[in-house]
Amino acid sequence: MNKLSPSILAADFSKLGEEVKKIDQAGAEYLHIDVMDGMFVPSISFGIPVIKSLRKKTSRVFDVHLMIEDPDRYIRDFADAGADIITVHYEACKHLHRTIQQIKECGKKVCVALNPATPVEVLEYVLDDLDMVLIMSVNPGFGGQKFIPFTLEKLRKLRHFISDRGMDIDIEVDGGVNLDNVEDIIKAGANIIVAGTAVFSGDKANNVKLFYDKMK
Ligand code: DX5
Ligand code: ZN
Repeated sequence: MNKLSPSILAADFSKLGEEVKKIDQAGAEYLHIDVMDGMFVPSISFGIPVIKSLRKKTSRVFDVHLMIEDPDRYIRDFADAGADIITVHYEACKHLHRTIQQIKECGKKVCVALNPATPVEVLEYVLDDLDMVLIMSVNPGFGGQKFIPFTLEKLRKLRHFISDRGMDIDIEVDGGVNLDNVEDIIKAGANIIVAGTAVFSGDKANNVKLFYDKMK
C-alpha cells in the first residue's frame, strides 16, 4: 500500500502540535521528521526534545530522517524519543552495517537513505536487514527544492534490484514531490511518499486527501 509521510520541515514551527494534529486527522499515516545537524547538510532543524513533545500529540508512524554525521552517537536517543523508523544516510555512516544493527537492537525499523549521486548498488550486502530504502530526489538540506528527474530511473532500478531478490522492502522518496509528479513516482516503484511544501501550503487536510486520491 502507498502511504503519505508529510514532512514537518515545511510546517509552522510556532504551532507544530496543531499542524501535526491536522494532518493526522486528515489521514496521513506517517510523519516525516527531518533532523539536520549543520554538518552533513548546511541547515540545522530540530532534535530530540521536539520529537519527544510531538510523540504526545499523535500515534502515527514517526519516520525520522537523520541528516547527521556519525548517527551512531544518537540512535538510542532517537529510539527513546519515539521514532518508529530510523533513517540514516549511507554517506554519513563510516560503518553502515554496525549502524543498522544498532537500530535493530533498539527494536526500530531501519531505513538507509541515498543521496541523488549515490548508486543503489552500494546497498547490496545490507539489503536483507532493511525495512525501507529512502531515495533522495533532491540534495538534502532544504525543503522546497525541485525534483531531480534522473531519480525516477533510480527508483525503477532499485525496485527491480529488490524484486529480483524476492524481497519486500519499502521504497520512500523525498524531495520536490507534488501532486503533478506523484503518479510517475509511484509508477517508478516508490510506495512511501514524503511531501513537505506540497502538503503544508494552503489547505493541509485537503492536500493530504488529494495526495491519497492520486496514490491509489
Ligand atoms: C530535504 C528533506 C525533505 C524536505 C522535503 O532535505 O529531507 O524531507 O522536507 O521537502 P519538499 O517536499 O518541500 O521538497
Ligand atoms: Zn527528509
